[in-house]
Amino acid sequence: MTITWSAETHEWHLANGRTSWVLRVLENGWIGLLHAGAPMAVGPSYRHLGPADFAGFDNRVGEPVGFAVPVPGVGDFRVPALVVENPDGSTVLDLQYRSHRIVAGKPAQPALTPATYCDDAAEADTLEITLIDALTGVTVVLGFTLFAGATVVARNMQIVNGGAERVVVRGAFGTLDLPDADWTLVTLSGTWARERAVYERALVPGRQGVGSLRGGSGAEHNPFIALRRAATTEDACEAWGAALVYSGNFLAEADVDAFHTTRLRLGIHPDGFAWPLDPGAAFTVPETLFAWSGEGLGGVSDALHGIMRDRLARGPWRNKARPVLLNNWEGTYFNFNHERIVEMARAAKDMGIELFVLDDGWFGRRDDDHRSLGDWVIDRRKLPAGVDGLAREVKALGLLFGLWIEPEMVNPDSDLFRAHPDWAIGIPGRKRTESRQQLVLDMGRPEVVDYLADSIGEVIASAPIDYIKWDWNRFITEPFSLVLPADRQGEFFHRYNTGMYELYERLTTRFPSILFESCASGGARFDAGMLFWAPQAWTSDDTDAVERLRIQWGTSLGYPVSSMGAHVSAVPNHQTGRLTPIDFRAAVAMFGVFGYELDPTAMPASDREAVRAQVSFYVERREVLQYGRFLRLRSPFAGDGNETAWMSLAPDGSRAVAAHYRVLQHPMRSRDRLRLRGLDAAARYRVTVWRSFDAPAGSFERGGDDLMSVGLSIEPPEPMPGGIPNDGVRFLGSDFNFRLYDVVRL
Ligand code: DGJ
Repeated sequence: MTITWSAETHEWHLANGRTSWVLRVLENGWIGLLHAGAPMAVGPSYRHLGPADFAGFDNRVGEPVGFAVPVPGVGDFRVPALVVENPDGSTVLDLQYRSHRIVAGKPAQPALTPATYCDDAAEADTLEITLIDALTGVTVVLGFTLFAGATVVARNMQIVNGGAERVVVRGAFGTLDLPDADWTLVTLSGTWARERAVYERALVPGRQGVGSLRGGSGAEHNPFIALRRAATTEDACEAWGAALVYSGNFLAEADVDAFHTTRLRLGIHPDGFAWPLDPGAAFTVPETLFAWSGEGLGGVSDALHGIMRDRLARGPWRNKARPVLLNNWEGTYFNFNHERIVEMARAAKDMGIELFVLDDGWFGRRDDDHRSLGDWVIDRRKLPAGVDGLAREVKALGLLFGLWIEPEMVNPDSDLFRAHPDWAIGIPGRKRTESRQQLVLDMGRPEVVDYLADSIGEVIASAPIDYIKWDWNRFITEPFSLVLPADRQGEFFHRYNTGMYELYERLTTRFPSILFESCASGGARFDAGMLFWAPQAWTSDDTDAVERLRIQWGTSLGYPVSSMGAHVSAVPNHQTGRLTPIDFRAAVAMFGVFGYELDPTAMPASDREAVRAQVSFYVERREVLQYGRFLRLRSPFAGDGNETAWMSLAPDGSRAVAAHYRVLQHPMRSRDRLRLRGLDAAARYRVTVWRSFDAPAGSFERGGDDLMSVGLSIEPPEPMPGGIPNDGVRFLGSDFNFRLYDVVRL
């Protein structure tokens, strides 16, 4: 058991040797948080880390005290964890400790609440504390789950109305109180095609953070934030990471008070949110994952990657090798038919690709993005043999078959909209804002979810489908529910999100062997909540390899490589117009769930040959690339961003694949060595260098100490191409240069 309770000191200590959280029942009955982070000895009392005798804020208003569930209006003026509007309209609660229990494993969360779980009770322990506000009967059950061997604590909260009158939840967050503010806040922000860039700012007094009011987590900000010390690197010094297991509107922020303490909070964005609770009703707050590391930001990523990959993602694909896919989107857009797809599939198979994905355009009369969303009826003009006939022919070639859907949307030009205009979100009497000529269906209405489960379920059931790409191509405007009364419109966004989860639940339950990939105009709903239903996500519509270095690096701060779809596309790149060599594109995409996004029948023979070599290289190393420990070595966000390097290390340390990328060539560079991480200093390794995928450029033996402390030379003098004499000038190659290194323990 990793959680202990002392009846004498009223302290709980969650400790697994790698991290510690210490909580205490304060003298006034509230729950204090004395410590979170570095591992501490179990046994001693840590009471000195909190106030001596805390009787509430009488006479000491505003003094910083760490709490497990801070509420407003009682003397702690920082942002609260829980705002409940009482029957009298006030929002003050006096949450008194009532009881607790310590359980092996992790109690299951209610249905449609994405959350981490255990396969075996030995994997974690959970502390559940029940608190009650005597005046209203509001009851709060706090959950703290500590995973064995990981530095992650999952925080849960359930609010139950134990009173006789309705109350309204207006804000509910997972919080973490830290005793100082000597931190830099790290957030992942951007927009379409440049998602999850790394932004950093030193904390200052006041509130600072990110959020979304778009109806989904969004591409602009991600529900993951981190804190690092000024001295923190990838593998040294303290850091925190926090991820919200939720896909809707969110707020993730740090609040620094006048005494320079920090409160982190992550939860549903409170703007416009109001969830009424009638007597006896309960509300489950989205789970928050807090990961501490004494080993840098890399340690935070390691901890979150492990939990998300192994105990948030579910289903048969959870830890299974993911197939190399070819998606026809950039190859054909809407312009395809049965024959063209079969031809593309044949060419894909010939190059070693394993899964063919038919993207947008197979239903209704969808010849462009102006119509037919919502009409999940096969377009027989393009596919006379249906999806079934096509899938069977593709599968007969020896490929798996996948299909694109965008369930939550409707075009005004669709039979669905003509039949049910009221299913599209909007406010009577007001104009509905269109985006990509489409509107959003109100997923908070059960009949909408039923229609989608049936119509899409029918298509999926009609054909041997192995994979589904679930897209979501616009945000929500004019939020309003036609079926909720005026005083319950504050439920709208959360109901939308829960309805979307319900459709996922129904389809993943009905088709348990299908691999689901989430997508939202690329990476606009790339969050921990989605991973519960779809173990991988389309990382970005931007397939330009140079851009992808930044996008994949940023994403990797919070999310595992096994969740990041990454494809090679044609050049000139459709998002940036850039021309990059095909091997460079592949060398970047391989540090993701690898695939292609192009028309293979339009490729020159030399490119097809290159793809054959790339696929075979990837498949041979896919286990380590998809499920290894991802270690960041050189950041594209540092300096001029010209270089990036990272590596994936097999869990048993027996092999690694490392990569170094240089975007632009500069003459007369300094000597440079790339230091690897995570190897065994005492072991010997064979290093094989690849500069293209057809044959290695050379190989040598090195010690782990040498590779980690001195590093691989990435500047050997090399001749200029075409026999141009270079008079000894060191030359690495052209622009878009890369090297991959196989590092195998001897
Ligand atoms: C946006 C996605 O991100 C693309 O990959 C593609 O599926 C299109 N939508 C199709 O409309």
